[in-house]
Amino acid sequence: MKPFAARTDALRQSDIRAVTFEVNRVGGINLGQGICDLATPAPIVEATVEALQHGSQIYTAYNGTSDLREAVAEKARSFNGIPVEGPESVVVSTGSTGAFLATVLTLFEPGDEVVLFEPFYGYHAGILRLQGVEPVAVPLAKTGGRWRFEADRLAAAITGRTKAVLVCTPANPSGKVWDEGELRALYAEAERHDLWVLTDEIYEHMVYDGRRHLSPASLDGAYERTVTLSGFSKTFNMTGWRLGYAVAPVAVAEKIGLVNDLTTICAPAPLQHGLAAALPLPDDYYEQMLADYTVKRTLMVDALRACGFEADPPEGAYYVLAGLGERLGQPGFEDARAATTTLIETAGVACVPGPSFFADPADGDGHLRFCYAKERPVLEEACERLVDAFG
Ligand SMILES: Cc1ncc(COP(=O)(O)O)c(C=O)c1O
Repeated sequence: MKPFAARTDALRQSDIRAVTFEVNRVGGINLGQGICDLATPAPIVEATVEALQHGSQIYTAYNGTSDLREAVAEKARSFNGIPVEGPESVVVSTGSTGAFLATVLTLFEPGDEVVLFEPFYGYHAGILRLQGVEPVAVPLAKTGGRWRFEADRLAAAITGRTKAVLVCTPANPSGKVWDEGELRALYAEAERHDLWVLTDEIYEHMVYDGRRHLSPASLDGAYERTVTLSGFSKTFNMTGWRLGYAVAPVAVAEKIGLVNDLTTICAPAPLQHGLAAALPLPDDYYEQMLADYTVKRTLMVDALRACGFEADPPEGAYYVLAGLGERLGQPGFEDARAATTTLIETAGVACVPGPSFFADPADGDGHLRFCYAKERPVLEEACERLVDAFG
């Protein structure tokens, strides 16, 4: 047999999937994988059933149906403040992941470097590597319970091969919500070195404590060099539907769309028709979601603190990246992987070991990520189990 393509050599089952397998084996509660077990809003389900029953089974345009692109363009203007030209600035794809892949294929050559901020979302690094693009991790600094961007660190990481910076806001796994000063400093570097900026804003509706989600592309002069990636998976609890999008200046969106055509032809048609018919959802949907996640965030943080972990309330998204604190080094807590196994075996609760989010796995050894996007009774039980076992 001829060998596999070299790009697959480093591919392994992720820690996240391995943890899922282990926790299912013991019938435990999975706070590891970032999947939300809440129901998709009824209006979206009903409109999609309707679309399925009334002949929406054929390919859509490669960049998505005009109704859904119009709805996204309208939301990009009114919610995100992005100066989009119109629906032609939007590419609907199979999840924001599909949009990210098409963007990577559109903008980068093998050998290019893309800066991302550590701790980072593993798929960003993995998808870049798969295309021969090198992810360069710039650590965020944690001070006073907050993860901060330091422009000097970014400046030091830029080389002649750097082609883009990638910002995740609100961030998985840190929960960091980038503020205006940080984004302006980042764009100053991007302009100085003529870099693209890719932004992942999939958690844009989960921003706590009166903070405001600021879309990088809404800053003066930023739109021209920015590809904004987002989707519906997290906001509407529909991770398995696989609908997301990229928003970019028309010339960029056109190419991303053409690549999207070659990678997947189009996103699932009935789901696009159904979602477009159901959008926009009323404001109180988003308000209620945020209120629910705020309560869940407190439950999670309090339980982790009661267990002796270091847990700061995240500014956004739905993860707590906890420090092992005083437990690190104790038997069963020698490092993050050992701690994860101990939590599964002793409490029947799974999390993700920190090394998944760091370029040098050793840097993540003091951390565990807990996802609180769970039905409230399930989350309460998980918290009780943790506190009973380790509190
Ligand atoms: C930061 C981030 N981006 C993207 C995704 C995946 O989004 P989608 O389902 O739209 O592909 C996730 C899922 O966990 C995520 O955490």
